Amino acid sequence: MARHLITSAIPYINGIKHLGNLVGSQLPADLYARYLRGRGHEVLFLCATDEHGTPAELAAAKAGKPVAEYCAEMHAVQAEIAEGFGMSFDHFGRSSSLQNQKLTQHFAGVLADQGLIVEVTEKQVYSNADGRFLPDRYIEGTCPNCGFESARGDQCDNCTKQLDPVDLINPRSTISGSTDLEMRDTKHLFLRQSLMKDRLDAWINEKEDWPVLTTSIAKKWLHDGDGLQDRGITRDLSWGVPVKRGDAEWPGMEGKVFYVWFDAPIEYIASAQEWVDAGKGSDWERWWRTDKGADDVRYTQFMGKDNVPFHTLSFPATIMGSNEPWKLVDYIKSFNYLTYDGGQFSTSRGRGVFMDQALEILPADYWRWWLLSHAPETSDAEFTWENFQTSVNKDLADVLGNFVSRITKFCRSKFGEAVPQAGEYGAAEEALIADLTERVTRYQNLMDAVEVRKSAQELRAIWAAGNEYLQAQAPWTTFKTDPDKAAAQVRLALNLIPLYATLSAPFIPTAAASMLEAARTPDAGWPDDVPRALDRMAPGHEFDVPEVLFAKITDDDVAQWSVRFAGTRD
Ligand code: 2FM
Ligand code: ZN
Repeated sequence: MARHLITSAIPYINGIKHLGNLVGSQLPADLYARYLRGRGHEVLFLCATDEHGTPAELAAAKAGKPVAEYCAEMHAVQAEIAEGFGMSFDHFGRSSSLQNQKLTQHFAGVLADQGLIVEVTEKQVYSNADGRFLPDRYIEGTCPNCGFESARGDQCDNCTKQLDPVDLINPRSTISGSTDLEMRDTKHLFLRQSLMKDRLDAWINEKEDWPVLTTSIAKKWLHDGDGLQDRGITRDLSWGVPVKRGDAEWPGMEGKVFYVWFDAPIEYIASAQEWVDAGKGSDWERWWRTDKGADDVRYTQFMGKDNVPFHTLSFPATIMGSNEPWKLVDYIKSFNYLTYDGGQFSTSRGRGVFMDQALEILPADYWRWWLLSHAPETSDAEFTWENFQTSVNKDLADVLGNFVSRITKFCRSKFGEAVPQAGEYGAAEEALIADLTERVTRYQNLMDAVEVRKSAQELRAIWAAGNEYLQAQAPWTTFKTDPDKAAAQVRLALNLIPLYATLSAPFIPTAAASMLEAARTPDAGWPDDVPRALDRMAPGHEFDVPEVLFAKITDDDVAQWSVRFAGTRD
């Protein structure tokens, strides 16, 4: 038994996430956590909400609420939706927690002690009307390049030119619309990542088994242009972790907070502390401190590709730079993007399907199956309603659902609701058992390697093998001439139900639970030995015919949903 620490990138607090966000972080992390628990390993699976920064402040202002109250409410909303999707977090924390505040200040203090922080005075746009400094993207004006009137301070959305706020013609604050802006001096802390370049480079080079998507992004940031840049880790905002050096004040930094991307990954550690403080665990250090046993832990992170630089370079720079024995990540699984019907999912424009809406129209397992079996691993993937309909109907309804329903109903009609006694297994049965034994090993290897799509394919093949066996052996025909042989066929097919349930649980936990319930085999452990696992329902073992596991998605549904989700959410 091994110990696995698993974290999913922590979703921003402002607003409900879309399916593209889900498939790139929380969902595959949950798949892996469920799988490893199923294999009998000890798992700590953590996530949280990412609550600091200007977007959170502005979303709260828009909702007419104090930001702390807004975050508390949205945290509860996100926690509930995550639960609806079956996320099996051991803890779903909050980056605004006191634990994270203390830990963030601690890291800043030790990094300063190590000589890795410098104070830099720079000029930034200050809005007199708003009474605050404005982050670049909250300044709008006319693009000097193309004349577009709503170009942002960091980039023009029309011609894509990278901009500096001073380039804009007629700049204004997007918060108040005010044009009363000036450049003011402000002091910030910079983390001297450039000093750690060689260490980070050597560390990334060791990671030969990481996905190319992960290492190529890290290497680009390490080597392209001027190489790894020092990074500003503070901001002139009021909502965030107050800048302190450990417990001490930081002269000249009063009223400032740490940059959201500095404190967010530290929440991975703080979430483990919150888990203990909430009474759900007893020792966070054995997961996070290599001097307290965390050397034995394998730590895997899940995220979308836009998060990779922060996890391959910035956060490791924080950890390594501290010179304290914190656990570093062992494997970073990253994802490309999911697109929606030919365009991008977009939170700001409300384009696509959002997690709450998805659960309104179908149970979580339908979404989990489609998203995971189409995970954007080697390239972007596209969600279309037609593709969703086809996969769900074929894989879940026609293959898995139909198998379970057909065999339980047939058994009930001919032998009653208990596994029949008679009959010996023959060549076809031995062949199926051998095939499944091989396939289960392949499936395990793929799951161990976090090959999400390929694991789904292998699982589908495992389901299909049962269906094909039934189709070929046709116990309903055998029964007419050789009822004993039919009984043996039925016995084996029934035993596939708990096997399938255990193997499928990481993907479709609710249906898997219904299958175990129907088979009345609640304690089915991982099938390390497939032939033995196929003996779990012994002759005489009673079962129930389950309700329909998966309903088909009709053409009408597709037509309706395509229209409903064609526009943008208000
Ligand atoms: O991209 C995002 O959604 C960020 N909120 C992810 C943060 S992950 C981390 F480092 F905590
Ligand atoms: Zn432009």
